[in-house]
Amino acid sequence: MQAASSVVPAPNPTEDHLLSDDIKFIQPAIDHALDKIRQQLRRSPDFPHITSGGKWVYTTDGVWTGGFWAGSLWLAYAESADAEFRRAAEAFSGKLLARAHDERNHDLGFMFYPSAIHAHRIAPNPAYVQASVEAARSLARQFNPVGNFIPGWGFFGGKEWSGSSLVDTLMNLPLLVWASRNGGEDHLFDVAMRHAATSIRHHQRANGSVYHVFHFDEHTGEPLQGGTYQGLAAESSWSRGQAWALTGLSLLAGMTGRAQFLDAAARVASFLEPHLQGAPVPPWDYDVSDPAAPRDSSAGAITAFGLIRLARISGNPRHAVLARSVLQALTSRCLAPPDQDSILAHATADLPHGLGIDESTAYGDYYFLKALIALRDSARPARA
Ligand code: GLY
Repeated sequence: MQAASSVVPAPNPTEDHLLSDDIKFIQPAIDHALDKIRQQLRRSPDFPHITSGGKWVYTTDGVWTGGFWAGSLWLAYAESADAEFRRAAEAFSGKLLARAHDERNHDLGFMFYPSAIHAHRIAPNPAYVQASVEAARSLARQFNPVGNFIPGWGFFGGKEWSGSSLVDTLMNLPLLVWASRNGGEDHLFDVAMRHAATSIRHHQRANGSVYHVFHFDEHTGEPLQGGTYQGLAAESSWSRGQAWALTGLSLLAGMTGRAQFLDAAARVASFLEPHLQGAPVPPWDYDVSDPAAPRDSSAGAITAFGLIRLARISGNPRHAVLARSVLQALTSRCLAPPDQDSILAHATADLPHGLGIDESTAYGDYYFLKALIALRDSARPARA
């Protein structure tokens, strides 16, 4: 049985606090993004992943990022009703369906929510529902019931991943919640709630920031220590990890009405607020002191989207205003030039491993467009 709502949806804070002049930058940025997506869909039949020298590196199966490209195409179709976007969105979403059986991938929510689940809302198709429920089952089969967490990096194989849980996985839990309400078992919801409780308890620090990784004894479930893979140091605050936590918790709060998710998301936002007020395009890790260090625009885009979703339920206008200032900074400083394939430049995928530094990412592009649309739509009543 799923819990009754304990979060009362807040009145829309955005419409009172964003004036029409404040959001004039949004529509040209959306139009620019759609132009880039149109050029890209004519460029390659494969999934864009991250760029190298401004040109996409492609994958044929979508690794963990294919859902963002399919999702970008669905957003473009929903914005424009252009059949070219829809044909491509259906083709790429269809290619991902086979991944529903991938039990070595903790990122199945990233793969299926922006693609098949959003696709089903726009163009209902039972194949999208069946595959999304099956993907949720594959994710739930990775759950460690002793430690109450879904481990990360199953796709690396080997043993070292099975006691490590990533804060990013909060973003995969909405798939489980959705599936439990769309033909899947109650067990899927239970796994999502148990993993989320573990993540809040162990990933989140007293100041609201989060560890990227938390290590457990995979056999006893004993919590061992926090760590990182893509951040500066175990105790540092990797920018994209904060963004995934903020957004995952805000989505879970909205889907379940549970106050503990709203509280945890608001605590991440409180940690981020002073950082973003000083530098609205995040550094790749918030503990990097060199102002010339690479930035991560994708962390900014995901954070902006998370803040907009949080504002919907927190009723705190500061969350919407902060999201606006991050998006405005991304638009004025980070749009990729015409000779680059992507929408958003200045992302950093994985600095410690030398991957995608000051480049573009499929997730940065997707959440940039998604956040622009969300902010425009939440401010719409004020413009009327
Ligand atoms: N694996 C998620 C990320 O790199 O952000």
